[in-house]
Amino acid sequence: ANPAGILGTGHSVPDQVWTNEYLETFLDTSDEWIRTRTGIGARHVAPEGVNTSDLSIEAAQQALEAANVKAEDLDLIIVCTLTPDLTLPSTACMVQAKLGAVHAAAFDLEAACSGFAYGSIIASQMIENGMYNHVLVIGAEVLSRVINWKDRATCVLFGDGAGAAVIGRVPSGYGILGGAMGADGTGGDFLTIRSGIAQPMTDARREDGSALAIMDGKEVYKFAVKAMPHAAELALERAELTKEDIDVLVPHQANIRIIESAARRLQVPMEKVYVNIEKYANTSGASIPIALDEAVRTGMIKRGDIVCLAGFGAGLTWGSVVMKW
Ligand code: ACO
Repeated sequence: ANPAGILGTGHSVPDQVWTNEYLETFLDTSDEWIRTRTGIGARHVAPEGVNTSDLSIEAAQQALEAANVKAEDLDLIIVCTLTPDLTLPSTACMVQAKLGAVHAAAFDLEAACSGFAYGSIIASQMIENGMYNHVLVIGAEVLSRVINWKDRATCVLFGDGAGAAVIGRVPSGYGILGGAMGADGTGGDFLTIRSGIAQPMTDARREDGSALAIMDGKEVYKFAVKAMPHAAELALERAELTKEDIDVLVPHQANIRIIESAARRLQVPMEKVYVNIEKYANTSGASIPIALDEAVRTGMIKRGDIVCLAGFGAGLTWGSVVMKW
């Protein structure tokens, strides 16, 4: 087998920032409530005309540069998103065209906040089996268009952004050592956006919120605190490592209390956990790759470190990747 690992990362968020104080101007909420319940201080919101593909391109270009890989050397582009620009073509095909990745296949992957873990595992398998040399995995969302800005219990939690990684061949002993992914579709109603061919998005359904994000926060919370450590434990086991081996944990950034709980269960001290939820809120598929890119660029992740990515999300889904950097 050919060992596969991350060669370079990048991220992009829209310039516009909506602080908790700004939300107070149109919502019955407070900075204090949001911070103490979630750890969120602000979120980036894409203006009209800026879509998932645009954020994806910027993140991808940074990742290609960091990896020293040319767009034409990509074999495959996977965009993990629940907010594609359009139903057709896929956002991955739009990215392929804009990057000029003329030799790359392209598809979208929908596993909500677990998307980047799912995508990285698929990419690494295709490299390990010799089919491909370079796969670009992007997690990108413009969630601000599908959340109900009148529902204070959900809208304060989410933001827009994109993160990307180029996955390719690495020296033996490095790279992705283990991965785990799973799903429990019986929990689908706990976090749902009921718009699609079965229930079209109409102006009336957008106005009354029935076509926008609907969440049972308590049920998602209960699932999350179990799923994230469970996913990480399975990935560690497949990597033949233990919890003590983790140097840096990069969890899905949904809620600081969920992150702290997962870290406790994994017995990882918070100094080893990368957290940026204060700045970006929950960017779903983009959350883990944005956090990973920041952890790399700030020097928190160093060569030789054991890095564990762990996520959970709508579906319900969960996933984790363990790698030696
Ligand atoms: N501002 C002020 N008050 C609020 C707000 C707000 N933004 N939102 C809710 N409240 C009120 C509620 O109305 C409620 O009032 P009541 O008691 O008078 O009815 C009160 O605050 C308490 O609400 P709870 O729901 O009990 O608050 P809780 O402590 O459970 O926290 C939260 C809510 C933060 C949403 C939590 O349940 C959570 O984080 N759940 C997980 C959500 C999550 O991670 N989702 C993302 C999944 S990943 C993906 O796939 C995108």
